[in-house]
Amino acid sequence: MQFFKILTGTLTLLWSLPLVAVPVDVDSDLDYCDAQVHKSLAQLGSDKDYTMMPRNISPDDSMWHCRKASPDEWCAGFWPGVLWYEYESTRDAAIKKEAERYTASLEFLSQRPAFDHDLGFLMFCSYGNAYRLTGDENYRRIILATADTLATLYNPKVGTILSWPRNIEMLGGHNTIMDNMINLEMLFWASKNGGSHRLYDIAVKHAETTMKHHFRPDGTCYHVAVYDQKSGKFIKGMTHQGYSDSSTWARGQAWAIYGYTTVYRETHNKKFLNFAKKVTEAYLCRLPDDYIPYWDFDDPAIPDTSRDASAAAVVASALLELQQYVDADTAARYREAATRMLASLASDKYRSGNRRPSFLDHSTGHRPAGSEIDYSIIYADYYYIEALLRLKKYNEHKNVLATL
Ligand code: GLY
Repeated sequence: MQFFKILTGTLTLLWSLPLVAVPVDVDSDLDYCDAQVHKSLAQLGSDKDYTMMPRNISPDDSMWHCRKASPDEWCAGFWPGVLWYEYESTRDAAIKKEAERYTASLEFLSQRPAFDHDLGFLMFCSYGNAYRLTGDENYRRIILATADTLATLYNPKVGTILSWPRNIEMLGGHNTIMDNMINLEMLFWASKNGGSHRLYDIAVKHAETTMKHHFRPDGTCYHVAVYDQKSGKFIKGMTHQGYSDSSTWARGQAWAIYGYTTVYRETHNKKFLNFAKKVTEAYLCRLPDDYIPYWDFDDPAIPDTSRDASAAAVVASALLELQQYVDADTAARYREAATRMLASLASDKYRSGNRRPSFLDHSTGHRPAGSEIDYSIIYADYYYIEALLRLKKYNEHKNVLATL
């Protein structure tokens, strides 16, 4: 009996001990990002084509592969977004000029019909940060126009935005992908900044419908949910970029964590907070020791398969926000997890360092298609610098969303 009392007491003590702080030197990590941004700008040359956006670097290369800003290049807003974060970090006027120029080459997307749901990634990572840091009216106007365009993809029968109009036939109906959760932030923002309240309603309904159909009971998600366009009935959950229809694609789960954290921030509705926590737990309990996920948690080839540093960066950033909304013990656990992710990403294994001018190596874009496997990819860098700035703000103000 005495033995059990001692054991229970020891376990209780261990459980209540403060978590071991993982050192992340956020200023030194931001200095690293600053150095890499300057290397990238030097590589892009003095006579830049501002419509060509850095997208990726293959493991056997050291040069950015750039893609032209276009409606079907979903990553074109991340490089301008990286530059805005870099400007926020350094207040360097020359970086601001570069950010303005790259951002301006996306304006045409606010003036044409929606190609797909990626308008949020494209225009909020670029123009959203531009407006946040400058307050320039022109940026606000462009975001409002784009939010209205994104809303044209909403199907009220289904209750979600159609992610890929081009794939209705191939996938068997109205399709919504988990990534689409990230694009709701632009709708919430627009509804608060001069746009229609309908944009808020669409974002909330999209989040509710996705919560109902896009997840398994254990909190893991499908990549794609397919619905009947006319009746709105849910048909099936499936994958596109993951290992299989029943597997958990790491970045899809990352988008879910980030997305529901944003939806809770914007609605203050506890059902979204509880859901954000549920999908977070489903992700954290599947992580390997270094907190950087394999590209799909259920790839049978683990550990002999690729990681996805981009998912780690997305989740680190999301957790630094989510920890502000939860009880103290959960908050400490989320901060600990986020700092472990950032510490791993800052290690030699994941840093691009002198090998190439990106921030991070080892992301996986679309493994089933054989595309961007173990690459540096621009969205990993975007969410990495965002997470570092959030950590810096948290350390200074205990509020990751503090603005300039
Ligand atoms: N489809 C967006 C992504 O690869 O996460």
